[in-house]
Amino acid sequence: MSAIESVLVENRVFEPPAAAVQGARIAGMAAYQALCDEAARDPDGFWARLARENLAWTRPFTRVLDESNAPFYRWFDDGQLNVSANCLDRHMGTPVQDKTAIVFEADDGAVTRVSYKELLGRVAQFANALQAQGIGKGDRVVVYMPMGVEGIVAMQACARIGATHSVVFGGFSAKALQERIIDAGAVAVVTANYQLRGGKELPLKSIVDDAIALGGCTTLRTVLVYERTPTAWNRVEGRDKTFAEALAGQATECAPVPVDAEHPLFILYTSGSTGKPKGVQHSSAGYLLWARLTMDWTFDLRPDDLFWCTADIGWITGHSYVAYGPLAAGATQLVFEGIPTFPHAGRFWQMIDKHKVSIFYTAPTAIRSLIKAAETDEKVHPKNWNLQSLRILGSVGEPINPEAWMWYHRNVGGERCPIVDTFWQTETGGHVITPLPGATPLVPGSCTLPLPGIAAAIVDETGKDMPHGAGGMLVIKRPWPSMIRTIWNDPERFKKAYFPEEMGGRIYLAGDGAVRSADRGYFRITGRIDDVLNVSGHRLGTMEIESALVAKTDLVAEAAVVGRPDDVTGEAVCAFVVLKRARPTGEEAKAIAAELRNWVAKEIGPIAKPKDIRFGDNLPKTRSGKIMRRLLRSIAKGEAITQDTSTLENPAILEQLAQSN
Ligand code: WTA
Repeated sequence: MSAIESVLVENRVFEPPAAAVQGARIAGMAAYQALCDEAARDPDGFWARLARENLAWTRPFTRVLDESNAPFYRWFDDGQLNVSANCLDRHMGTPVQDKTAIVFEADDGAVTRVSYKELLGRVAQFANALQAQGIGKGDRVVVYMPMGVEGIVAMQACARIGATHSVVFGGFSAKALQERIIDAGAVAVVTANYQLRGGKELPLKSIVDDAIALGGCTTLRTVLVYERTPTAWNRVEGRDKTFAEALAGQATECAPVPVDAEHPLFILYTSGSTGKPKGVQHSSAGYLLWARLTMDWTFDLRPDDLFWCTADIGWITGHSYVAYGPLAAGATQLVFEGIPTFPHAGRFWQMIDKHKVSIFYTAPTAIRSLIKAAETDEKVHPKNWNLQSLRILGSVGEPINPEAWMWYHRNVGGERCPIVDTFWQTETGGHVITPLPGATPLVPGSCTLPLPGIAAAIVDETGKDMPHGAGGMLVIKRPWPSMIRTIWNDPERFKKAYFPEEMGGRIYLAGDGAVRSADRGYFRITGRIDDVLNVSGHRLGTMEIESALVAKTDLVAEAAVVGRPDDVTGEAVCAFVVLKRARPTGEEAKAIAAELRNWVAKEIGPIAKPKDIRFGDNLPKTRSGKIMRRLLRSIAKGEAITQDTSTLENPAILEQLAQSN
């Protein structure tokens, strides 16, 4: 039934409502096409125009794209600017200076507001505090903070002095944090004593202590601690300072330090197909240009909008559409500390009503879990709140299934709000394939068409274009300003992972499969083609989880991790484990599985905990010893094995693993 329904629904087309087209920044498909044509005709002229119109430069650029060291592309590279000045100072002396920049709602519902002028003062003061710690241009600062104004201030303050931040999601473990501090060579960590989520107080600072205790953080000198709660925490003398201590006596003015366009604004670690996370390095100018511009294009931002992106600053979405894009665009945004299900699963709808949110941007996982909640409890259904303020809805992080799309459209958008299903990645810096609310006819489950200037295509392994209707690999054929610049400390991996030689070494390989519709050429993302899982919109490398499991050396001999479809989280982690002792069954298997889950949570973070753990005497391997993951994927899904198993060394193991659930 649901398969039939999804086929029917996918054929539906939703034209942009007249109200959305009216006054839109890109109004109608002809306007979209005109921008695409401009970009195709004269790419350098197109990007130069946008960079001049949208950014304030302290030294104007004269060169646009430098391809001389491709694929290490450089944009606007003789220009200089400051990112924080572009987000804050630039609004001073305009009506935006007194506008609310951030409406902050805490976990417990308390609301505070910060104007642009106040935010500038706080960022400047924090920047001075960083400088007083001897931190300056080019230094790396790890930000391990809860969702809130202070985290955004820390990021902006780094940008102000030219320090490169690396935000680590507050759900990551001590081990994951330690690896990132070491890889980035961070001189400081900015953290909080505790974070408040779902009515619980969770430690952060003690995890920083644990990370440092693991050793190797030789570059680290300072830990700055925001006291989010009055709860006591352990202070290391000489290294730790509270925010209050660091800010005391610091002026609320601080001259922004101009940096080169290509200066690394941040490093953000994300999972790839090896055991080691990749430090995705972004630029200053090109990155900011796209974050700023997509606020206008994708969200059709208007001066009186209240913008709400629910992503945490620990992810790229929280960088581009919380910490940078909305501020550069002079928007008022809502920032939420808590979780969608506390104190009840109507919290999002209640907040939209309370604050009169007009643009709402969230992940399919959140939508699916709230659908489930609303189905079981009428009281948390969106119909209980007034959502008339909404104008535009957005989706990000994973494919949105047509059923969830329709529910979002009907029950949240009241059938009047365009849904922008934005496809992009940590590496792309901002949206690359997305509908435009005032132009693009929508098809549920499709991210529709590339933004102007983005040469997205679908190709085979050799880089040859696939016809519409045929699936293949998603690529972007021309560089764009907000693209990843390199992998921090690993330029070779950057080239291999994103610009494979087999495709000529100049085409960006996204790592996703996609197909274009035969009629409109609309893109639909079919999922990752590498060993990366997407669980609740979070990227997890299967190899990372495998390494974590086998690091439990007293127990685990071998492990293989695959994904399987999940109704709520999109994909779920499924681990096949061979122990160093006899294969456990019954209660013993349950106990060991629980122990391994907690272990993975400690090694990586709770988001990486396997949902299923299955024990076997062995894993299905070829005669050359290679684990046959596609067979494990079928077993994880509960499918009968129909694939060829003739190359398998130990076919009997399949039966055992299939029954091990
Ligand atoms: C997936 C998140 C389908 C995709 C911004 C991509 C999507 C990965 C969509 C990047 C979408 C993101 N439709 N799939 N609208 N948006 N993805 O780096 O697999 O955390 O490669 O960036 O999420 O995840 P990342």
